[in-house]
Amino acid sequence: MSLTALVLFAVCLTATAENRNALNEIIFSGDFEFIDLTHPFDNQTIYWPGVQNFVFTRKIANLEPDGSWYAANEFAAGEHGGTHLDAPYHFYRQGLRAGELPLDSLIVPLIIVDISSRVNDDPNFVLYKIHLDYMLNAEQKCIIIFKFGWSKFYNDKQKYLGMTDNGKLNFPGLSEEIATWITTSYKKVVGIGVDVASVDPGSSQDYPVHKVASSAGLYNIENVNLSRDIPEYGCTAIVLPMKIRQGTGAPVRFVAICPKKH
Ligand SMILES: *[C@@H]1O[C@H](CO)[C@@H](O)[C@H](O)[C@H]1NC(C)=O
Ligand SMILES: *[C@@H]1O[C@H](CO)[C@@H](O)[C@H](O)[C@H]1NC(C)=O
Ligand SMILES: [Zn+2]
Repeated sequence: MSLTALVLFAVCLTATAENRNALNEIIFSGDFEFIDLTHPFDNQTIYWPGVQNFVFTRKIANLEPDGSWYAANEFAAGEHGGTHLDAPYHFYRQGLRAGELPLDSLIVPLIIVDISSRVNDDPNFVLYKIHLDYMLNAEQKCIIIFKFGWSKFYNDKQKYLGMTDNGKLNFPGLSEEIATWITTSYKKVVGIGVDVASVDPGSSQDYPVHKVASSAGLYNIENVNLSRDIPEYGCTAIVLPMKIRQGTGAPVRFVAICPKKH
C-alpha cells in the first residue's frame, strides 16, 4: 500500500468514526434516491425564439496509432434555454447575477405543486390563487416548482412552445397574482420553477411574474423536467447553475434528493 493510500484510508476512517449521523450516512443509507430534473443539452434543446441555440462542435475524437484515445468538443449557447436558471438581474437591475447566488439559496427544501390535472393540457391555462385549494407549507427556506404537466411535450418544440404561424407562443404559466402572493405571504421562498419555457404564460407580452419575482430577489428555474413522479414534500433541491459570473441566467443541473417510496 502506498503512503497516499494509507493517509486517505486513515482520513476516511476518522470521518466515519467521529460522525455517526453524518449527512453521508443519511443520504447514502439506501432510503433516499437522486431524481434528475434536467433536460439534456444537445441539438434538440429548446431555446426561446431568437436566442442562440446550443451548438455542439465535435473538434477532436482520435484513436491514436498507439491505441490511446483523445476527444474534446466545444459548445456555445444562450443563457436562457433548456433547463436553466433566471438570475434576479434578468429582470431587476439591482438583482444578483447567476454567479452571485448564494449556495444556501440553491440547496434547499423542494416543494412540488402539481396542478397538471387542472391544466389538463390546455396551453391557455394561467394559474390563479383560486386553483390552489390548499395553503403552502413553506415555513423554511425553499423553492416551489409548479407542475403543469408539460414535460411530455418537450420532444415536440412546436407543441411545447405552442408556436403559431405569426410567431406567437402559447403555453401555460403563472399569473401576476400568484407571484405577488408568494413574494408577500411566503418570504422564505427563494425561487420558483416550472415545467414550461417561462414562469409567465407563453402569450405574455410584459412578463409580470418575472418582474415581481426578480425584484423580490427570487430566481426562476424554467424547463424543469418533471416527467418522473416526485413527492410534493420531503425532497431537497440541488440547483447548480453554471457559475457565469455576470450571467443573467445559466444552464442548470437540477437534481432532487428524495425519500424512497417503500
Ligand atoms: C426527462 O426525465 C425522464 C425521467 O427521468 C427521462 O426519461 C427523460 O429522458 C427526460 N427527458 C428529457 C427530454 O430530458
Ligand atoms: C443532432 O444530434 C444527433 C446526435 O448527435 C445527430 O445524429 C443529428 O444529426 C443532429 N442533428 C442536427 C440537425 O444537427
Ligand atoms: Zn430564462
